[in-house]
Amino acid sequence: MLGDGQMRLLLSLLIFAGASVSAKEPPNAVDHAGIIQSWDRESLASGEKIYKSLCTNCHGADGVTPPLPTARAFGKGELNFGKDPYSMFKTLTYGNGMMGPQTWMTPKERYAVIHYIREKFMKPMRKDFVEVHDGYLEGLPTVNVVVKESDKKERDFGPALASQLGRDISSVLSVKLGDDTTISYNLHSMDQAGLWTGGFLDLLNTQHYRERGGGVAQPKGEMVRGLQRWQWAHGGTFDYSREDLLARGPIP
Ligand code: HEC
Repeated sequence: MLGDGQMRLLLSLLIFAGASVSAKEPPNAVDHAGIIQSWDRESLASGEKIYKSLCTNCHGADGVTPPLPTARAFGKGELNFGKDPYSMFKTLTYGNGMMGPQTWMTPKERYAVIHYIREKFMKPMRKDFVEVHDGYLEGLPTVNVVVKESDKKERDFGPALASQLGRDISSVLSVKLGDDTTISYNLHSMDQAGLWTGGFLDLLNTQHYRERGGGVAQPKGEMVRGLQRWQWAHGGTFDYSREDLLARGPIP
């Protein structure tokens, strides 16, 4: 047990230690300069895909006429929250004003869409466009914490999830069986829709992750060979006609 005096000393030490930590720079795990320096055709293409699937709805495709008048045009007028990549990154990370945070994108993806906006709209349309230069990169926050693999947050959807599976099966229930194995049942026919190992569902392009995700859930892993075709027979056969089945409901 600690005595009163020792306790106070310990507390003040803790408080002191806390103060010295917070006086340092805020923790940053994103290699801003590194990501920007690695911009290439691939990041441009990935940024274009993201921009066209989402940002264009409000910010527009031509850089000058945003369909949502309060959203900014990237090719003309002021950018109130900053025109440089890092300022735009902060808007995408923390949100600002009416623009919500877009942390469904990885930091690399956020920078990829910034890369696209710069190349497509800002560079050709803005006289005040500034290229990224060494001095700018040197001024960016450097990495001061390492994110442990285990700190990366995978979303937990629980032990089972109902979804579409691929484009062909409109309604399945996928159940985690442990050991990274997943079984999925077709909720209309009650047949097995798939059994795979390596993970649960790939949901990255769905609305679970993307505001306007038009993608569908896909099996995440390898199908287990030989265990794919558990299904119900009807009228004594597995080869019953799939024509004219009820739109919903399990059986012919
Ligand atoms: C639902 C509409 C909407 C969508 C979708 C949207 N934005 Fe915005 N965005 C806005 C609005 C509105 C503002 C202005 C915010 C303000 O001024 O309060 C804004 C502001 C911004 C700004 C800051 C502009 C400035 O003045 O400094 C950036 C950068 C930005 N958006 C990037 C994006 C990117 C990249 C995407 C796609 C990933 C995107 N936005 C998708 C509505 C949208």
